[in-house]
Amino acid sequence: MQDKSKYRRMYTLEEIDRIVERSILNMNIMGEPASLYEPIEYMIGIGGKRIRPRLCLATYSLFENNISTEIIYPALSLEIFHEFTLIHDDIMDNADTRRNQMTVYKKWGNNVAILSGDVMSILAYRYLAASPAGSLPDVLNLFSTTAAQVCEGQQYDMDYEQLPFITREDYIKMIGLKTGVLLACSAKMGALLAKASSEICDALYDFGYKLGIAFQITDDYLDTFGNEQVFGKKIGGDIINNKKSWLLVECLRLAANGNKMTSLDNIMAMGEDCQKEKIAAMQQLYVELGVKESAKEAILEYQKKAMDAIENVGLSVEQIQQLREFSEQIIHREK
Ligand code: IPE
Ligand code: IPE
Ligand code: MG
Ligand code: MG
Ligand code: MG
Repeated sequence: MQDKSKYRRMYTLEEIDRIVERSILNMNIMGEPASLYEPIEYMIGIGGKRIRPRLCLATYSLFENNISTEIIYPALSLEIFHEFTLIHDDIMDNADTRRNQMTVYKKWGNNVAILSGDVMSILAYRYLAASPAGSLPDVLNLFSTTAAQVCEGQQYDMDYEQLPFITREDYIKMIGLKTGVLLACSAKMGALLAKASSEICDALYDFGYKLGIAFQITDDYLDTFGNEQVFGKKIGGDIINNKKSWLLVECLRLAANGNKMTSLDNIMAMGEDCQKEKIAAMQQLYVELGVKESAKEAILEYQKKAMDAIENVGLSVEQIQQLREFSEQIIHREK
C-alpha cells in the first residue's frame, strides 16, 4: 500500500488566505434592525489581517486537505469573536481609528458599539456550532474557556493602566490572556477539527500562545514606532493611556534601576493638553533606554519559543516549515 499522506499536497498559506477572504465576503450577517447589524458589517468589511481563521485553517491543513464549509465556519467564528473584542476594546482604549477608519463607537456611539459587539459574540457561537459533530464538544469547550480568558486579560489590561508599576511577569500573563490564548485556541482548533493526536493539539496550543505573545509585543512596538498610515491606528495611543505596553513595562524596570524615574514619572503625568509632546518625549526615552531595540529581541525570542513548542512532537519538516512561514508573517509585519 502506498502511504497516501506522502502524496498529499498541503494548501499554501496564500491559498488559505484566499479561502478566508472569499468566505468572509460571502458571509451574510445583515439583519434587522439595521442599526444593530450595520456596524458589524462595517467592522468586518473594513479589513484586518484575519490571522486567527488563517491560523486555524493552516493547522487544519497540516493534516487534512479538504477545507470544507464545516471547517470554514468554526474558523470564521474566531474572526467574528476577535472583531467583537476589538469593538469593545476601542471603547475601553478610547481609540478613534482602526484600519484607517473610524472605530465603531466613534461612528455610532457607545450604546450601539456595546450591543453590536454583544450580538457578534453570539454570532461567533452560531458559526462555531456548525463544526463537525464529532469535534464539537472539544471545540466548544476550548472556545468558551478562551473567550472568558480574553475578558480576564482585558480586565488586567484596564487595571494595570491605573498601577504605577507592573513586572514583566504581570505583563506576559496579561497579554497571554488578552491575546495569546485566542491564537492558541485558533492553532489548536484546526488540529482538533483534523482529529490530530492530543499531544499535537497541545503542542499547537503552546505554539499559538507563544506566537500570540510575540504578536502582542509587535503590536505594542508598532503602536509607538509604526507608520500610522500603514498600521491604521493612531500612533502613540498606548502612550497617551499610560498603557502597560511591553515598552513601558521594560522602561519602568530600567528607570527604577537607573536615574530616569523622574523623567518617566513626568512624562506619564503629562495630560490631555500636551499629547503630542508626551508621545515624542516617551518615544525618545524608549530609544535612549534601548527599549525600542530590546522589544525587537523579545519578539524574536517568543517566536523561537513558539517554534520550539512544536519541535519534538513528530511533525514533518514540511509541516514545521509551514508553521515557521506563518510565524514569520506574524512578526515581520508593519500593520
Ligand atoms: C489587534 O489584532 C488586537 C491585538 C490582539 C493586538 P489584529 O492586529 O489581529 O487586528 P486586525 O484584525 O488585523 O485588524
Ligand atoms: C487588544 O489589545 C487585545 C484585544 C482586543 C483582546 P490592544 O488594545 O493593544 O489592541 P489594539 O492595539 O487596540 O488593536
Ligand atoms: Mg486594549
Ligand atoms: Mg486597543
Ligand atoms: Mg495595541
